[in-house]
Amino acid sequence: MTGLPDPGFGIYVHWPFCLSKCPYCDFNSHVREGVDHARWRAALLAEIDHYAARTPARTVTSIFFGGGTPSLMEPATAAAAIERVAQRWSVAPDLEITLEANPSSVESARFAALAAAGVNRVSLGVQALDDRALAFLGRRHDSAEALAALAVAQRHFARVSFDLIYVRPGQSVADWRAELERAAGFGTEHLSVYQLTIEPGTRFATLAERGELDLPDEEAQAELYEATQEILGATGLPAYEISNHARPGAECRHNLTYWRYGDYVGVGPGAHGRLTVEGAKVATRAHRAPEIWLGRVEAQGHGAHEDVPVAPGERRDEMLLMGLRLADGVPLSRFRAELGGDVADLIEPGKLDRLVRGGFLSVDDQSLRATAAGLQRLNAVLAGLLG
Ligand SMILES: C[S@@+](CC[C@H](N)C(=O)[O-])C[C@H]1O[C@@H](n2cnc3c(N)ncnc32)[C@H](O)[C@@H]1O
Ligand code: SF4
Repeated sequence: MTGLPDPGFGIYVHWPFCLSKCPYCDFNSHVREGVDHARWRAALLAEIDHYAARTPARTVTSIFFGGGTPSLMEPATAAAAIERVAQRWSVAPDLEITLEANPSSVESARFAALAAAGVNRVSLGVQALDDRALAFLGRRHDSAEALAALAVAQRHFARVSFDLIYVRPGQSVADWRAELERAAGFGTEHLSVYQLTIEPGTRFATLAERGELDLPDEEAQAELYEATQEILGATGLPAYEISNHARPGAECRHNLTYWRYGDYVGVGPGAHGRLTVEGAKVATRAHRAPEIWLGRVEAQGHGAHEDVPVAPGERRDEMLLMGLRLADGVPLSRFRAELGGDVADLIEPGKLDRLVRGGFLSVDDQSLRATAAGLQRLNAVLAGLLG
């Protein structure tokens, strides 16, 4: 990727329901006995209308149905949302429309209808190819069901990705290498590999507090990370972001919009947005609780809980937090266009120099980026740069 990449303009739609709660997950996902699909569809469409009125004259480059488990949406709801986006904005000819799906047989039975609705990319939450690991992660599927769903997805969608979680208790580097080689062998153009994080408030956090989770130590984590880079790099799926690997050209355009600090609309409970309104960047955040969000949309046309300008310092921090996750880093021209100043003016030189000399960041006349060593410990690098 060279030149000045267009950050694009994306629409994120959040479906907050799941069949059960996974023990590691702190996403805004909820288990409900019944969902009134017609009400939910109407509310999502109303919120699309609300944000379209605030961002006229934009061209949508991606739509992303995330969750929760959006593969539990009625395909007619996804179809209606896609149609509404195309009525309210102009859309790019190569509009990317992704939907996150759980790899179960019930959900893969809907893939044909979702493809007919316009979805052209799916991201499957496979998580592991090992049944014991899947049981540990509290997943409802085993590896055979996940692989069957992957095959159905590959028949229906031109673009398929799946997620794996690693740094699991007892996971050896040899086992992970074998699992990754198998994963790369399914021929998808994209793979997301996340290190297991223990999020506060989850069941795993409780187990960890009780000393009942025996996770790989830092050294083992680094070895697992290095094996990931090596194997996926060698199989044609290099990392373009810390946890995301793709064949060159097959990167997720929607997520690139976030990482390039472009604008995006957030629709649905808990969704975040970043919009440029009359030249100023605005942050929006919807109420997280599904029923409160629904009630607010029905009463006032949107569920926004927060709608505030992003201060210049915060804007710089957000741009660096997102952009330094990318292998290509932050193009200096984007930095200037977004923030109205150069890296040398807007970042304390002492902090930058220290990280460059330490081999964690590099700057040339094109971009500021994290080196391989920097990417491996990005949180510490960002703390050193912005703290
Ligand atoms: C919203 S979920 C994906 C869709 C679907 N709900 C599913 O679970 O299959 C987003 C992804 O984030 C990853 N994830 C969520 N919580 C995580 C955690 N604590 N540590 C590592 N990865 C996590 C999982 O790989 C998951 O597939
Ligand atoms: S990981 Fe996915 S399926 Fe599990 S609770 Fe979170 S959003 Fe739901």
